[in-house]
Amino acid sequence: MKEYKLTTKMRSYQWDELSDEQREVVAIAKEQTAHSYCPYSQFHVGAAAKLANGVIIRGCNQENAAYPSGLCAERTALFAAGAQYPEQPVTRLAIACFTDGHFTAEPGAPCGACRQVMLETEHRYGGKMEVLLYGEKEIFVFESAADLLPLIFVSENLKG
Ligand code: THU
Repeated sequence: MKEYKLTTKMRSYQWDELSDEQREVVAIAKEQTAHSYCPYSQFHVGAAAKLANGVIIRGCNQENAAYPSGLCAERTALFAAGAQYPEQPVTRLAIACFTDGHFTAEPGAPCGACRQVMLETEHRYGGKMEVLLYGEKEIFVFESAADLLPLIFVSENLKG
């Protein structure tokens, strides 16, 4: 038997410690929470994906009466980016959550399916995608989507 300990790395920042480029996407993710369609959960999630060409694609969660038919904010942004700018790497992704009249104190943790899609996006373009998770108290920054998901499953794994 062998035991492996998997480690990952993230950093915690205060708003005024972020760069202007980081603040730009986080501010848009926060704005986007206002457009979330979440009549069932009342949990508003906003996302902003910055592309290598400078364009910022906006996303927010889209719920549905048939619950599994809805989609998380991160995936609306990443899929829209892939559909509109298939050749443009996504370099940065920010997420913010708003509920009960305020942004969450702690950063929202992306669900597993969104992490998998983030990883595919990063892998597809062959560069790192920085991920910023906004919370009122602190902002978590991951240099790479891979830091959010150890033991990745990507196209190479399909080859056996
Ligand atoms: N949600 C997201 O948009 N992103 C996540 O990573 C986690 C959850 C949404 C899905 C649903 O509309 C609401 O938050 C409550 O789960």
